[in-house]
Amino acid sequence: MKGIVLAGGSGTRLHPMTLVASKQLLPVYDKPMVYYPLCTLMLAGICDILLISTPADLPQFRRLLGDGERLGIRISYAEQPRPDGIAQAFLIGRDWINGEPCALILGDNLIHAENLSALLCDVGSRPYGATVFAYQVRHPERYGVVSFDAGGRAVEIVEKPTTPKSNWAVTGLYFYDARVTDLAAAIRPSLRGELEITDLNRLYLEDGSLTVEKLSRGCAWLDAGTPNSLLQAASFVQTIQARTGMLIGCPEEVAFRMGYIDAARLHREGEKLGKTELGRVLVELAEGRLT
Ligand code: DAU
Repeated sequence: MKGIVLAGGSGTRLHPMTLVASKQLLPVYDKPMVYYPLCTLMLAGICDILLISTPADLPQFRRLLGDGERLGIRISYAEQPRPDGIAQAFLIGRDWINGEPCALILGDNLIHAENLSALLCDVGSRPYGATVFAYQVRHPERYGVVSFDAGGRAVEIVEKPTTPKSNWAVTGLYFYDARVTDLAAAIRPSLRGELEITDLNRLYLEDGSLTVEKLSRGCAWLDAGTPNSLLQAASFVQTIQARTGMLIGCPEEVAFRMGYIDAARLHREGEKLGKTELGRVLVELAEGRLT
């Protein structure tokens, strides 16, 4: 399975911070935002990743992430000239996807959960259909919202409904089978002029091949698209890391734990980070002083 990180858009809700800098490169506590969704794909066992961003911002992502070799993965890049919708990622990535199943994660989404890797590897191994993740939120009207029948089956998905039928938001992490590029090519722009990811998900729902995984209360899903949510995400990462000593959203650590790089490489990556706390933790992990 392949995976796309969509990290374009204009970040208007974070102006003036995003007037000259990409939103997905802003720091979330001690790492650039894009590290978090990148790690989520890596935890799903995905090693072939396409990063899509604006023509202006793409060179910065390249500088940060390179070809992925130091993480034992492959990272390719593609431009989205205008923010014409999330589902456009599959049209931009069509040749790169090359008829394979493909996951997508939004570059501002942070998911943290126990056993996330096992769940995502399981989801990624499903040969047919699509899987999305639902999370209970206080303001569902800000998201794609999925509602369920009495038996718990998903019956409807609506993008930013004024009167939501449930409080289950659809997160920005999606897994699709090999039909995804053809199905994405069939959707038309919405009234706001975007190729909506919710319309793509609805095609799978109507076809009877959409699975909705409900994320449990113990799981954290944050998007960092506004000053408040950016601060909340940073506080969350700082709190968990300080309390447990575990890292959140560190691709070098994930690469090591997933077996993409060995201890010697991890050690070098830790040393490159110099005197930072992050670097210290990576070196300790590489030396077997942390589990
Ligand atoms: O975060 C989950 C939500 O993401 C879902 O519940 C919604 O169904 C989905 O539409 C989306 O809603 P947002 O309001 O967050 O979408 P937004 O337009 O803010 O785009 C989300 C991210 O994707 C943002 O970081 C910018 C990036 N993006 C967006 C568009 C439309 C692109 O890179 N290119 C695009 O064309």
